[in-house]
Amino acid sequence: MILEGTGSQLKTAGNLGSFMQKEIFEQPQSVVNTMKGRINFDNLTVQLEGLKDHIKEIQRCRRLILFGCGTSYHAGVATRQILEELTELPVLVELASDFLDRNTPVLREDVCFFISQSGETADTLLALRYCKERGTLTVGITNTAGSSITQETDCCVDINAGPEIGVASTKAYTSQFVALVMFALMVCVDRKSMQERRKQIMHGLKMLPDHIKEVLSLDDEIQKLAVELYQQKSVLIMGRGYHYASCLEGALKFKEITYMHSEGILAGELKHGPLALVDKLMPVIMIIMRDHAYTKCQNALQQVVARQGRPVVICDKEDTETINVGQRTIRVPHTVDCLQGILSVIPLQLLAFHLAVLRGYDVDCPRNLVKSVTLE
Ligand code: G6P
Repeated sequence: MILEGTGSQLKTAGNLGSFMQKEIFEQPQSVVNTMKGRINFDNLTVQLEGLKDHIKEIQRCRRLILFGCGTSYHAGVATRQILEELTELPVLVELASDFLDRNTPVLREDVCFFISQSGETADTLLALRYCKERGTLTVGITNTAGSSITQETDCCVDINAGPEIGVASTKAYTSQFVALVMFALMVCVDRKSMQERRKQIMHGLKMLPDHIKEVLSLDDEIQKLAVELYQQKSVLIMGRGYHYASCLEGALKFKEITYMHSEGILAGELKHGPLALVDKLMPVIMIIMRDHAYTKCQNALQQVVARQGRPVVICDKEDTETINVGQRTIRVPHTVDCLQGILSVIPLQLLAFHLAVLRGYDVDCPRNLVKSVTLE
């Protein structure tokens, strides 16, 4: 299906022209569906029904291990930091295929999460069976009730994002993200020292649908940026901390549907190699948000600019320091640090979509890819 017209033309016609575009624009609602009936914003509690019989065991475990492939793996990378903070447990994130290539030790005291939109991805399923055989508690995070992962895990959280048809995952990612944050909030409910932090995050979750709508309203601006970029061969996406996952996920969207070479680069690794790629011709997108990594990201920006790079910066709309230095910016609303990654990834979803349309590709069914990889 090849689309014609700009995003806004399609939207005003009340006719979102592809499943992917429709699913990107559904996110204000799909994140609500993930939270619905599970969060009580008045008494600041979270109840994930599927986990309630196992929560004590989870609270006593030694490590959390998150497994996934593709976008689902990125949801693990995106939430690792807040899981570490709120659970105070070591958290490992594993690509299921790489985990299976090793003879990886898992311990009976580990709790293993299997993140999968479809619930059928072969590598994730095989990693689940491997962990089960070794006696760990297994938890599914899926979007498909009745799928193999929901059936074979000890307990499961349905992210309730609604059917996702576009091969490139969008709304499932943000709902997996929200579900994992809710899990972290559920685990630390009794920790006195964390109540202020929990309140902050709950507030961020409450505001999330409005913040996502605000990001989606940048669609026309992002479409214009796509017009400037669509004939390029390559795009580098740089960030760190909470936003490294958005860089990886953005680069994956670019590869999947625009067929452009794209890399998500951890800004902390810039001087260990990637900086050699930067010159005045290399398209670079940087994510710089006002969190604990802000100063380090500003340093990375200076390093890129010093090599004649002309990055587009996804930043906080109130960050005048970044806005005033003359970089081209995509300005998103500010939220609590651990949820900001949801707002930094959506501009990249939109950009990938517009680039693919301008390049004349079928955004819903990219070449060589399928929605659910059920073979090893
Ligand atoms: C395929 C899809 C990706 C997806 C990955 C994992 O490669 O094309 O979009 O992220 O599988 O799928 P899952 O259903 O396990 O989340």
